[in-house]
Amino acid sequence: MAIDDMQRTPLIAGNWKMNLDLTSAGDLAKALHQNLDGLPGRDVVVIPPTPLVHAVATILDESTIKVGAQEVRAEASGAYTGDTSIEMIKSIGATYCLVGHSERREYHDETNKSCCEKIRALLNAGITPIYCVGEKLATREAGETLKFVEEQLRVGLGDIDGEEVLHVVVAYEPVWAIGTGKVATPEQAQEVHGHIRGYIGHLFDPEDGEGIRILYGGSVNAENIDGLMACPDIDGALVGGASLKADVFERIVKFEDV
Ligand code: 13P
Repeated sequence: MAIDDMQRTPLIAGNWKMNLDLTSAGDLAKALHQNLDGLPGRDVVVIPPTPLVHAVATILDESTIKVGAQEVRAEASGAYTGDTSIEMIKSIGATYCLVGHSERREYHDETNKSCCEKIRALLNAGITPIYCVGEKLATREAGETLKFVEEQLRVGLGDIDGEEVLHVVVAYEPVWAIGTGKVATPEQAQEVHGHIRGYIGHLFDPEDGEGIRILYGGSVNAENIDGLMACPDIDGALVGGASLKADVFERIVKFEDV
């Protein structure tokens, strides 16, 4: 994909997490295809559980909606029972992949270093990583959010160069806002997003900081999306629970561009 094509077009991604089955995922994909295909000015990605990626990608094949995977292993192949390689998700239609989601960090020992390896391997394969960063409540209350997120970025993006960073999407997901109904205020989110942009400019080049897309995630819904998207450094959303209902997700994708 040409970098120019990627420059900060709003991107709304639905992370379906460990929900739905073949039938209900197919129904959701068909509804989204019908109502969001070809929508101008938006990039839309759905991220089903791995066993459902192929079916969803087949339904969305002729549409502008892209499909992602929630997790991969960096190694190309081998004795890793239960794991999924990048070529596998690529061969079934995924063009995006989450990396470092807080639920993977919490339940599967994902570290900044393992994220770095996955981001490197995904870029080698031409898959767009969506690199998730964000602090727990204790870190925020200790006033260490910005430092914590900087470290996640420094290590996670540590094996790529300036040209490549624009092929990465960053998602800021404060852990205390995920699935809790406690959305960050637009001011709280904007503060961190602005800082992430500046820090990526510092790590790579100021133009990279300006060009990279930074999504907000954590209790995004149809009511709060407009306020979040009005923030200058928020380029889209990574939506969990609210992405499972077609009408709600459609409203989020069609946020009011103020
Ligand atoms: P919720 O939107 O359900 O809070 O989940 C956010 C998230 O983790 C998206 O990756």
